[in-house]
Amino acid sequence: MNWKEIYESRKCSADEAVKLIKSGDTVVLAHAVAEPVAVVDAMVANKHLYKDITVSHMVTLGRGEYSKPENSDVFRYEGWFTSPSTRKSIAEGHGDFIPVFFHEVPKYLRQDIIHVDVTMVTVSAPDEHGYCNVGVSCDYTMQAIKSARAVIAEVNDQVPVVFGDTFVHVSEIDAFVENSHPLFESKPAKIGPVEEAIGKNCASLIEDGATLQLGIGAIPDAVLAQLGEKKHLGIHSEMIADGVVDLFEKGAIDCSQKGMDNGKMVVTFLMGTKKLYDFCDKNPMVELRPVDYVNHPEVIAKLNNLVCINACVQVDFMGQIVSDSIGTKQISGVGGQVDFVRGAAMSHDGKGIAIIAMPSVTVMKDGTKVSKVVPYIDHGAAVTTSRNDADYIVTEYGIARMKGANLKDRARQLINIAHPDFREELKAQFKERFNADF
Ligand code: COA
Repeated sequence: MNWKEIYESRKCSADEAVKLIKSGDTVVLAHAVAEPVAVVDAMVANKHLYKDITVSHMVTLGRGEYSKPENSDVFRYEGWFTSPSTRKSIAEGHGDFIPVFFHEVPKYLRQDIIHVDVTMVTVSAPDEHGYCNVGVSCDYTMQAIKSARAVIAEVNDQVPVVFGDTFVHVSEIDAFVENSHPLFESKPAKIGPVEEAIGKNCASLIEDGATLQLGIGAIPDAVLAQLGEKKHLGIHSEMIADGVVDLFEKGAIDCSQKGMDNGKMVVTFLMGTKKLYDFCDKNPMVELRPVDYVNHPEVIAKLNNLVCINACVQVDFMGQIVSDSIGTKQISGVGGQVDFVRGAAMSHDGKGIAIIAMPSVTVMKDGTKVSKVVPYIDHGAAVTTSRNDADYIVTEYGIARMKGANLKDRARQLINIAHPDFREELKAQFKERFNADF
């Protein structure tokens, strides 16, 4: 059969495609923007067909219906990163969470440390050679395709064709469900005065020619907005969002000084709006590579002048950084935070730095402010970046450096960049914690 015959013979409805799922299976969903909407809906709608289905993935932008209590008779959600729609299932007890460094996910799938039976992905329509493109998400998606017994692909002609390790031949896919629809979008967060001040503080640590990694959340775009005057910046990042397009258009990014993959923005997934997806479509400057390349600390260490910028929820007096939980509540995952923090520390030119940036306070729904600098992390919280790994911590009030600083110095620096409303209380807690004057 030629590829067209293969494609035609495997084309079916979403309801037909999900019959490839068998009771007891683990279904892995492609990551973030690549989640296939119609087949996920069909899997849930046809739940009477199976028993004991585990659904796993990292970020989801979808509704996460399989993680809801009313579907827990059939589905068990087991995330490697949780998102707003799936967090509750963990708190409610019927869902669960596997801690894992993002760069290790493909290895776990390859070695069956994390099991996969069925992989569900979104791809572009096949090209003239019979290759579909995973477009927005290479990360673990490519390995999940290889490791699964069955692969179901939603074919969406709005998926950009992005270069890199992103092409899948139609023969590797068992069912094609055509569904043209706009991709998920993650709109840029609002940049207010606090984010702007954080962006300026981070920008003061970034030289011309730096290679940037940008994490998830509001802060990375705020930093990029301050870099318009820089020259020869490079991108090697787990993800990129719209802020990178804006900065490229200002002429600040040419990827000429990276030291490896020169001239290319190397990324493992895209999460922005149509503006980003259109920018990356058939753009020779953008390459998506698997996460065990992009996020591997040994690869990251080979980059010149690396600056990693990630966010967190809370930091304690010792520089322990909590980014993926609030007390016992799992709110996200480690993602690539520690991959990049460690890669920067190992950097071949000794210039790699890792910034964790955060507003000094969180404003809760009832309007109360909570300091992100705390003497002790919340009961039950998980340390994401350890005190041994922590490097720069930035708020709107300044910059603290953990590396080389003793415990009391760390706490002093952190209190000095905490919100002024909390500093006196934190100083009193310093005295109690360290049995010493501030
Ligand atoms: N105490 C209580 N609640 C807090 C808090 C604190 N100290 N800090 C944050 N929160 C709450 C917020 O109120 C918000 O709640 P909501 O979802 O109910 O509105 C939630 O936690 C998320 O905080 P927010 O500041 O809005 O998140 P963000 O979108 O800017 O993302 C992280 C920040 C830390 C959650 C995110 O960067 C992350 O998940 N990091 C870990 C993974 C990572 O760094 N990957 C890097 C490569 S992609």
